[in-house]
Amino acid sequence: MRIKYTISLVFFVALVIIEKENNIISRVSDKLTLKQTPQTTLQPSGLSHILPKHNASFTTFSKTNSAFSLIKRRLENYSQHKEVVTRGSKHILLLATTRTGSSFVGEFFNQQGDNMFFLFEPLWHVEKMLTLETGGTNSTASAKAYRDVLQQLFLCDFSLLESFIEPLPVNHITTGLFRRESSSSLCQESVCSPVIKGVFERYRCRTRRCGPLNLTMASESCLQKEHRAIKSVRVRQLENLRPLAEDPRLDVKFIQLVRDPRAVLASRMVAFTAKYKNWKQWAIDGEVPIDDDEVRKLKGNCDNIRLSAEIGLRQPAWLRRRYMLVRYEDIARFPMRKATEMYRFAGIPFTPQVKSWILKNTQASKETSGVYSTQKNSSEQVEKWRFSLPFKIAQVVQKVCGPTLKLFGYKFVSSEEMLRDKSISLIEDKVFNFV
Ligand SMILES: *[C@@H]1O[C@H](CO)[C@@H](O)[C@H](O)[C@H]1NC(C)=O
Ligand SMILES: *[C@@H]1O[C@H](CO)[C@@H](O)[C@H](O)[C@H]1NC(C)=O
Ligand SMILES: *[C@@H]1O[C@H](CO)[C@@H](O)[C@H](O)[C@H]1NC(C)=O
Ligand SMILES: *[C@@H]1O[C@H](CO)[C@@H](O)[C@H](O)[C@H]1NC(C)=O
Ligand SMILES: *[C@@H]1O[C@H](CO)[C@@H](O)[C@H](O)[C@H]1NC(C)=O
Repeated sequence: MRIKYTISLVFFVALVIIEKENNIISRVSDKLTLKQTPQTTLQPSGLSHILPKHNASFTTFSKTNSAFSLIKRRLENYSQHKEVVTRGSKHILLLATTRTGSSFVGEFFNQQGDNMFFLFEPLWHVEKMLTLETGGTNSTASAKAYRDVLQQLFLCDFSLLESFIEPLPVNHITTGLFRRESSSSLCQESVCSPVIKGVFERYRCRTRRCGPLNLTMASESCLQKEHRAIKSVRVRQLENLRPLAEDPRLDVKFIQLVRDPRAVLASRMVAFTAKYKNWKQWAIDGEVPIDDDEVRKLKGNCDNIRLSAEIGLRQPAWLRRRYMLVRYEDIARFPMRKATEMYRFAGIPFTPQVKSWILKNTQASKETSGVYSTQKNSSEQVEKWRFSLPFKIAQVVQKVCGPTLKLFGYKFVSSEEMLRDKSISLIEDKVFNFV
């Protein structure tokens, strides 16, 4: 009699709990499905601590309770929702300066596959439009424009960028999006309109023949992708992007790519001959006027890079788990390892497509075994500047970029012999990240 009574009581209590449970779960699922429709980042707020509690209270009478399996199934459904929630979209911003290997590193994300929407230097248009007659830009105005355009693009909204494209797109159609072909996302079938005869495409797709870019189609394709990545060499100060880090709709991961400023200068002197003609002259003369504008510009660049890195490495609350510093020299020597680290940091699966792209483009075949071998060829590339840069110029860089070299672990050279002696590495082993 008593046992019967107890069983009934337990059953009744169970039913009450189950009823409550159903309510909670359906409310939770409603909320989740509502929230999922716009592609925003979802936080599993409060849900994770509800789940274990259910687990504990139900396991006690799970055997006697036939309704338990229903709850369990519901919970399973709810776990699936939770997975969607925690998986979330990631927004990767690859920040660099010119001649630091950012196109190469950008490919790590461009090659990710169907889950990634990648844009290559969209801020080119913004900079171009905001360039003053003096050749420079108003850095306050451009910093704000860069930030706002990036924020919109991460949300797949091209409208602000459009206003910077010249000539202005008509009906969201443009033939002039800078380096369209460098974003595989912009040359996919779904973003490829028919070719129009007689219309010249300056930046035409290489993988397939496409007509002018329909930015509405680009935006739609972007919304279909889980993750977004943008590469830019134009942002000066990481701090300017704080609103992106704090935007609840985004889950931004900043990857700052740096390279030895001496190597960067050597590379720029070759790549941008006209712009760097003063440096070339100084290289021939063997003298550098230290108070020249060009030298001040070099110092300004180095300081910007260092200040951004210092903020990132300090890990203020707004940047926690959002900042990673990578040296190009490490990527050149250990591409697979560094790519894996970057993906782990970003919280995105490292796909076989990326892996095979890296293998193809670095010949880093030995790396896959887990024992990472040095890639001879790319490390040779990385050190080439040591034979082209006059020692005098290296000294000037060391003088004006000293703190930057120190922060990133680039060794100073004290003589021409040291600069040219490849048995002396100028790259200190340094670990920057708390991934
Ligand atoms: C929930 O219960 C399952 C088995 O019933 C167990 O494997 C799991 O670890 C439990 N989870 C928690 C968070 O207690
Ligand atoms: C689980 O989800 C599927 C599809 O969303 C639904 O058909 C099914 O009824 C759900 N199961 C339970 C027990 O709620
Ligand atoms: C730069 O732009 C800001 C805001 O757009 C403006 O207030 C400021 O006067 C400009 N500075 C110069 C030097 O033109
Ligand atoms: C651009 O794409 C959108 C969305 O697919 C479409 O509605 C629009 O007609 C296209 N514009 C032109 C000019 O083809
Ligand atoms: C580096 O690559 C070049 C061609 O790209 C090749 O000829 C050379 O043998 C390679 N060197 C090493 C050390 O692998």
